Amino acid sequence: MRGLFVTGTDTDCGKTRVAVALLHALRDSGLRVAPFKPVAAGATRGDQGLCNEDALQLIAAAGGGWPYRNVNPYCLEAAVSPHLAAREEGVSIESGPIRDAFQALLANADIVLAEGAGGWMAPLREDWCIEDLALELDLPVVLVIGLRLGCLNHARLSASRIQTSGASLAGWIGSVVDPDMQRLEENVTSLKALIDVPCLGVLPHLDPMDTGAGNLDAAGLQSILR
Ligand SMILES: Nc1ncnc2c1ncn2[C@@H]1O[C@H](COP(=O)(O)OP(=O)(O)OP(=O)(O)O)[C@@H](O)[C@H]1O
Ligand SMILES: [Mg+2]
Repeated sequence: MRGLFVTGTDTDCGKTRVAVALLHALRDSGLRVAPFKPVAAGATRGDQGLCNEDALQLIAAAGGGWPYRNVNPYCLEAAVSPHLAAREEGVSIESGPIRDAFQALLANADIVLAEGAGGWMAPLREDWCIEDLALELDLPVVLVIGLRLGCLNHARLSASRIQTSGASLAGWIGSVVDPDMQRLEENVTSLKALIDVPCLGVLPHLDPMDTGAGNLDAAGLQSILR
């Protein structure tokens, strides 16, 4: 096991929240876990150049000290689809630098926890998307399901596409993005019946300071890492 690839049912579905929870839970189990956000769109310029908030959150959750440009080799400024931001900014997103950054992280870690961008089919170039990246990295996939109205359809579509792509869908994690979601428990029960891989936890709507690690199924997580 070299890592996990966190994808989601959509943008803003809770991937970073879940990745932060996973980083804490995996570190608590004694693993050295490197954070990885291979492609990010939406960044601010500071002393160290462009930095993306997701990447910074992942670095903090991984205990700090990870070189930013390895964690986030492609950092685009515009907060739009990565393929559009890259085109506007004169960047071609290629697998080589992503693979190199991944190997550099892995040299100092037991596993790498990668967060995608957007959902499973989000384009990184016209001819290359998150699915292609995840397949190239050859990591088991964790699907984050943003718990809100419409999530059953998004979850089923995403899970079935991930599985037919040839990637290994290891499990799913729900995240209560909408604190007022109606029939939350019934939806979670339906997801457990409809998605044929284990539920590794459901993050309730969390306070900002709560990592969410305690809401993950530690035993389930260990079993997918074997
Ligand atoms: N379980 C939760 N409890 C509280 N807030 C949440 C939860 N899940 C997601 N959010 C909030 O919803 C927003 C989107 O979540 P998050 O940034 O994790 O999504 P994402 O899928 O990583 O988005 P992106 O596609 O931009 O990477 C954030 O403001 C986040 O704090
Ligand atoms: Mg994110």
